[in-house]
Amino acid sequence: MSDTPVVDERLLALLRADLAAAHFTVDGVAERLGPVASAALHREQPLPALLATEPTATATTSDSCGVLVRLFTLGRRVGAAALASALPTLGVEGAVALGLVRLEGGPAGFGPVGAADGPSAAGADRTVVATCDLRPYGDDAHDWWVASDLSEVALGGPLRADHVLGIGGASTTLASWTVRRPVERALDLGTGCGVQALHLTGHASSMVTTDISERALAYAAFNLALAASEEPGAVPPLELLRGDLLEPVAGQRFSLVVSNPPFVITPRDEDLTLYEYRDGGRAGDTLVRSLVRQVGTVLEPGGVAQFLGNWEVPAGRTWREVWGEWLDEQAREGVPLDAWVVQRESQDPAEYAELWARDGGAQPGSETHSRMYAAWLRDFAARDVERVGFGIVTLQRPATDRAPWRSLDEAYGPVAAPMGPTVDAGLRARTWLAEHSDDEVLGVAWSCAPDVTEERHGRPGAEDPSVILVRQGGGLGRVVRAGTLLAAYLGVADGELTAAAALDAIATVLDLDPAAVRAELVPQLRDLVADGLLV
Ligand SMILES: C[S@@+](CC[C@H](N)C(=O)[O-])C[C@H]1O[C@@H](n2cnc3c(N)ncnc32)[C@H](O)[C@@H]1O
Repeated sequence: MSDTPVVDERLLALLRADLAAAHFTVDGVAERLGPVASAALHREQPLPALLATEPTATATTSDSCGVLVRLFTLGRRVGAAALASALPTLGVEGAVALGLVRLEGGPAGFGPVGAADGPSAAGADRTVVATCDLRPYGDDAHDWWVASDLSEVALGGPLRADHVLGIGGASTTLASWTVRRPVERALDLGTGCGVQALHLTGHASSMVTTDISERALAYAAFNLALAASEEPGAVPPLELLRGDLLEPVAGQRFSLVVSNPPFVITPRDEDLTLYEYRDGGRAGDTLVRSLVRQVGTVLEPGGVAQFLGNWEVPAGRTWREVWGEWLDEQAREGVPLDAWVVQRESQDPAEYAELWARDGGAQPGSETHSRMYAAWLRDFAARDVERVGFGIVTLQRPATDRAPWRSLDEAYGPVAAPMGPTVDAGLRARTWLAEHSDDEVLGVAWSCAPDVTEERHGRPGAEDPSVILVRQGGGLGRVVRAGTLLAAYLGVADGELTAAAALDAIATVLDLDPAAVRAELVPQLRDLVADGLLV
């Protein structure tokens, strides 16, 4: 593709070395901009960062990191000499050859992508304009760099319909929730700039990434090649395939499938820009629904698929009923799968319309924004949609022929970061519960997880609490209201006594029927084991 970066292994190695030497890393940029400008940029307000990186005539040291931020994140024109000094081994010609920048003849006027920093340091006329966004990204073990199309902040205007998105909140949410077990083969469906694939390099022996967009695949190829230039083996064997949803990998099997799919519900019958990165070309929530239906066909036994999604909840129904129907359909038509859906947000149609009408660059109050807002409202009204849910979907193909389990949970508050270890533990716990009887649950000496605390609330002066809350410090941050029996059991659950013995002792002390106590508590114990409050 002529308007996407180019893979050239020799030049990529030089680029990588220069970016690292310039401290153009996540920490380096945060330090260079300071907390206020960094936070403002996070809110898509570039002005503090622009002021913080403004070149000064009196500067005595070179500001490589500042130059790279101005050029690649803020979309400002910089002097060719300044870029040559920021990328000393790659040089300006190398950056042009990689398709990252364009050389221009002389200084230009003020404004995004074209706003000049004044005469270049060398006093020459030549200036450089970024042709893509390039920014540092990382996890605990890696410094990566990710190229994507220039953002709205840099362009100062609307995005093209085939815009290749950089790393956003949805990308990092999925990355946080992904189970990071070592896996043989992994699939990143709808890879975009390849951010999920970068994370997979840490725990997959081989990978396939797909996208419907050729431009996205070009960016992903560039970013993964840049990561691969760190050292041999930094990126496992990788295939990039173009096509719609699972079609390019039909007949293949994976141990892990991750996808931040184009799940945004977008009106189809209006004169709206349909952004490739967020709109899968289908009405309502049918793209996510079809992913649920089909993904089992590419999972090997024991394999896990994780993706984000939106779902419509029509008037008079609950989101759990909607998901119940989706999963029944999936079980009828596809490979039976365990399903764990965590709803993180629920919006009414107007809230949803406001969120997405702004995305892409339309300003609230403008005619374009109002037209889009109205189109969303009409679209939802046509299907009698009352709420739109957002959440994280984890599907698992059982490794044996047992019946699949379902867990449809809500978690609207803060959760652990990263969430992957919680999801991993939750999958194992739910699977264990599905494979074990109530008597076997009672036969275990459970203990309260170390992050569980208890709160007692009561009227001033009252001898006994009227409410006991059991609070999980990590994981999904669950808060459970405990009755007398559960509170008594949790008070003695220290891994010494089996649940059966502890409940029988409680029944004796309270003069209750032991069988009734067990029957009342087993479902509650299962619930707490599933979410890791009892381990
Ligand atoms: C929201 S972006 C996600 C990008 C990246 N994986 C991330 O986590 O940030 C969705 C991606 O799906 C791609 N896409 C859109 N429709 C698709 C389809 N029908 N099949 C496969 N990919 C599609 C888009 O081109 C885009 O790159």
